[in-house]
Amino acid sequence: MPKVYVLRWGHRPNRDKRLTTHVALTARALGASGMFLSDIEDPVVEQTVKKVVQRWGGRFRFEMGVPWKKTIKQWKAKGRIVVHLTAYGENIQTSDVLERVKATGKDVLVIVGSQKVPSEFFSPEISDFNIAIGNQPHSECSSLAVFLDRYFEGKELAKEFDNAEMKIIPQKHGKKVIQAC
Ligand SMILES: C[S@@+](CC[C@H](N)C(=O)[O-])C[C@H]1O[C@@H](n2cnc3c(N)ncnc32)[C@H](O)[C@@H]1O
Repeated sequence: MPKVYVLRWGHRPNRDKRLTTHVALTARALGASGMFLSDIEDPVVEQTVKKVVQRWGGRFRFEMGVPWKKTIKQWKAKGRIVVHLTAYGENIQTSDVLERVKATGKDVLVIVGSQKVPSEFFSPEISDFNIAIGNQPHSECSSLAVFLDRYFEGKELAKEFDNAEMKIIPQKHGKKVIQAC
């Protein structure tokens, strides 16, 4: 199965710490292999993500501070594809865009924005696919969650995370967490 990574663009440390952290945690929990926080470093986000990975396991790459153009250039140089999530793109429900993404059989870099993204993101030089999770504006977190869930067809929700310190045992009622190692 091809791997999916996320490029989070436009992080503003003074107001996006929580949301960018949630983008990373969404990416990890829903099957992505890593996230690039582009152009800027935010040690608070990095620390939180690393703590979650240490406690709850799995492999999740987190990199920050690399200019988005460089990350995309390096990504594409290896023949991999870029998907830009945008309300203006091809609708994931009413078009065959997801089938076309999967048909490439290639690893996917998913771009999500914050404030208005550079217009270059919409161009074929940057994004092989512009995909809308419905053509109404909502959020980077919700659009990423729906994209990943459809891409992995729900199977990511049953994934076991190895090397975890803690593991949740699902309960009908109440909470059960065990030390896993
Ligand atoms: C708060 S929105 C940005 C809205 C901004 N005013 C704009 O026009 O781009 C932040 C990010 O969420 C994602 N997003 C929001 N709605 C979406 C949708 N319907 N489909 C796909 N992605 C969406 C996009 O990646 C967007 O860059």
